[in-house]
Amino acid sequence: MNTHTPPFQPVSQDDVAWLGTDPIPASPYYDPAYFELERKAVFLRSWIQVGHVCELPDPGSFIRREIEFANASILIVRGKDGAIRAFHNVCTHRGTQLVMAEAGRQSTFSCPYHMWTFATDGALVSAPDFDQFHVAKKDCALPAVAVGVCAGLIFLSFAERPEPLRDWLGDLADRLEALPVARATTFSEYVYEIDANWKLTYDNFQENYHLRFIHPRSGGAATGPDNPFGYPVHYGFHGPHRTQTIWSNRAAPPPPAPALLSYGKAAEAAAAHGIMVSQDAKDYFALFPNFFLLGSPLQHFSHVVMPISATRSRGVIRLYWIGEDDSASERFAREYLMATARDIHSEDRGVIERGQRGLSSGALQHIHLQTQEILCRHLFRSVDAAVEAYKAEMASGAEARA
Ligand code: FES
Ligand SMILES: [Fe+2]
Repeated sequence: MNTHTPPFQPVSQDDVAWLGTDPIPASPYYDPAYFELERKAVFLRSWIQVGHVCELPDPGSFIRREIEFANASILIVRGKDGAIRAFHNVCTHRGTQLVMAEAGRQSTFSCPYHMWTFATDGALVSAPDFDQFHVAKKDCALPAVAVGVCAGLIFLSFAERPEPLRDWLGDLADRLEALPVARATTFSEYVYEIDANWKLTYDNFQENYHLRFIHPRSGGAATGPDNPFGYPVHYGFHGPHRTQTIWSNRAAPPPPAPALLSYGKAAEAAAAHGIMVSQDAKDYFALFPNFFLLGSPLQHFSHVVMPISATRSRGVIRLYWIGEDDSASERFAREYLMATARDIHSEDRGVIERGQRGLSSGALQHIHLQTQEILCRHLFRSVDAAVEAYKAEMASGAEARA
């Protein structure tokens, strides 16, 4: 044990004073009109994380994603040239959804209705009796959607003219590229739907104030006598994105054997890829609006909260791994860590839905956030700034048209 570690000091209010201390309005967490503004001002204008390159190992590999906020079904395909592209999953003849499989590998995509067939780069390659049409094949390619990759993570943007993904991520792009997730070859996944607003759901995972009450069993290494709430040691703000460094209780008993085994295997895999291994701190990267990645240099856990309506969301939780599990005990270790993540999540889930029922009653005008819930405040401030800018843009457009 390191006896020279200075006692824990929480981040002071002075360091985050620029984000204010006002109560936060409650209605953005349940009001459908505010949700509609967020859909247009935030989700249709941001890079949204939807997958990982390890899902597209070969030319012709594809994944389909249903994106409710855009009312869209999207095909993400690795082309023969190795490039990853995204298209609306919509046949350009008369609009039929092209692919129903969630994932697979195909050299072409044929529409079941009249057999128009598209290449992996979206071009229309054949269509029966095409002479009867009054359009050129080159004008019938699948409608493209902007796609970007950073650290192996695949993002989509529905913005009219999206800025490059790396510009959007700013100084976080290089930090993400250095993480094991950039070299992941596989993952475990857990998908859930929840009766809660996306921000309320997401906020649960960016504050530690609840740990000792909601996770008393699992809180051992995350809390300690000089940090009973398990507050982080650092918060960082990067435009609309944010980071934190999670405190670790070095005096906590070691994790159970299956977790140690898994960390050991992950360390070997990371070292083989030249990744420096230290388990002292856990970095948390929150990418605006709805994705976060949390982990030690050994293991990365990602969580995306997709909005479905003002009071319903879908979460996708993943644990990423480098290399296949090459023994039964390693398989067990991976399953054990995923089962643990799922258990912890089930503790969160109930309290998030209770929060939504309370907020949706309309009983509160405001909610209150303390200094150590600053990341929740920063998310709301970032969303609300985008919503206000969008409203101003619409108003000035309407004025110009009048
Ligand atoms: S709608 Fe697809 S081929 Fe006709
Ligand atoms: Fe929690």
